[in-house]
Amino acid sequence: MTQDELKKAAALAALDYIEDGSIVGVGTGSTVNHFIDGLASVRARIRGAVSSSEASSKRLAALGIPVFDLNDIDRIPVYVDGADEIDGSFAMIKGGGGALTREKIVAAVSERFICICDASKRVPTLGHFPLPVEVIPMARSHVTRELARLGGEPRLRAGFVTDNGNLILDVHGLTISDPVDTETRINQIVGVVTNGLFARRGADLLLLAGKAGVERIPR
Ligand code: A5P
Repeated sequence: MTQDELKKAAALAALDYIEDGSIVGVGTGSTVNHFIDGLASVRARIRGAVSSSEASSKRLAALGIPVFDLNDIDRIPVYVDGADEIDGSFAMIKGGGGALTREKIVAAVSERFICICDASKRVPTLGHFPLPVEVIPMARSHVTRELARLGGEPRLRAGFVTDNGNLILDVHGLTISDPVDTETRINQIVGVVTNGLFARRGADLLLLAGKAGVERIPR
């Protein structure tokens, strides 16, 4: 199977966890795109979705799935999203697509985070994938210096602006042995909107697609 076929297998397995009549939290990325396409086939069973990016909102709307404003919603039983890396404690690096802030907001509101991945995303230690950090534009230089002090090599994601009008610094060269601590420390840098470590609120269930099928691994 190709990597894309594995992503699709993990994404379609997540349909088993959708509650009838609910509003579904929807992440962003190539794996989630397969989930959105699958969601269209069960759209009569759900009220709609809350989306984590303009790209996902557009795809949902094109398939006739109503997209709600998070501020109008009181309950999201399940949030489904991919990851760039996930470790043994279900902490993740996310934001390869630049949607980390809205992803973190929708994940925070949701009762259950279901991570859909192909097997290449599972790692013993986070950090090989550069850690995305969303930054207010005027704080770019300051945040770059502070991230370098933490031992990373921040690089501006060239030509990229987030859905919130901000910049992304991708931090290379980190070995993240304590994801909760690193997430907290980066959040404390003035000018940082969000960082792509999802450790304080990690995944609750991992649907991991490999050659032998989709493993369903609870935290
Ligand atoms: C988007 O900002 C990311 O957090 C994605 O969820 C993550 O990058 C995984 O993307 P793919 O499903 O495209 O690998």
